Amino acid sequence: MQIAHTIAELRHLLRHSLHPAFVPTMGNLHDGHMALVRQASALGDVTVASIFVNRLQFLPHEDFDTYPRTWESDCAKLAAAGCDVLFAPNEKELYPEPQLYKVHPPAELGDILEGHFRPGFFVGVSTVVMKLFACVFSEAQGRRAAVFGKKDYQQLMVIRHMVQQFALPIEIVAGETQRAPDGLALSSRNGYLSDTERAEAVQLSLALKAMAAALKTGDKDIAAIETQATAMLSRRGWTPDYLTVRRRSDLQAPVGEEPLVVLGAARLGNTRLIDNIEV
Ligand code: PAF
Repeated sequence: MQIAHTIAELRHLLRHSLHPAFVPTMGNLHDGHMALVRQASALGDVTVASIFVNRLQFLPHEDFDTYPRTWESDCAKLAAAGCDVLFAPNEKELYPEPQLYKVHPPAELGDILEGHFRPGFFVGVSTVVMKLFACVFSEAQGRRAAVFGKKDYQQLMVIRHMVQQFALPIEIVAGETQRAPDGLALSSRNGYLSDTERAEAVQLSLALKAMAAALKTGDKDIAAIETQATAMLSRRGWTPDYLTVRRRSDLQAPVGEEPLVVLGAARLGNTRLIDNIEV
């Protein structure tokens, strides 16, 4: 695996790649990321990953400073998963001056759910992803692919929408959520959980499964399904931000017979977990 710390080095390494396939990450990698890298390996001639902890997508009180930086083990994992080129710019390289041009997703997609509880989050994500795409794909001639996990369901939708709206010649490929044996969705932030919290954490996915099961049995009272799941987690000591049923197409409230997804975000102690299940 070759490593580029600057945009110039990255472009040099990718100068002969016709079909790069890209997985952006913030490091602290786990098996979920590795699955995305393996998926990318089957899509392009060169598999590229990035590690960049993007300050723009953190609120001031969030964990930017303490976000785990695990460089050595990340490199070993990426190399083992088949990554050919790792792009690891520092802040001065990616943001040599304050980022004044930003990508603002439309409010109806970017300011709901995660965007409601983390204002500006999707501006930060979209802006850095646009910039990473410009770095990674600028030399490519043919098909370009980028893989994003369904674990961050809304992020995947925002990026798909951005690519379509800006006519970027990049195929956005969805990677399935990877889960621990008990069902907890793999996430970099799971590492913040104490042993007791880790044992409890699976309850978020169980709550979402119960919501999905109710929908599958034909229960149409969505408000009751949401309230019941929220109350269940609250009783167990969680602080839920949302447990909600949305249509998959645009994450708005369902109105008829449409493919659905249930999404949840809740705090357990100091750790905020998110998960979702397509129904
Ligand atoms: O999902 C993530 O790890 C980040 O939001 C991303 C896509 C790498 C942008 O910083």
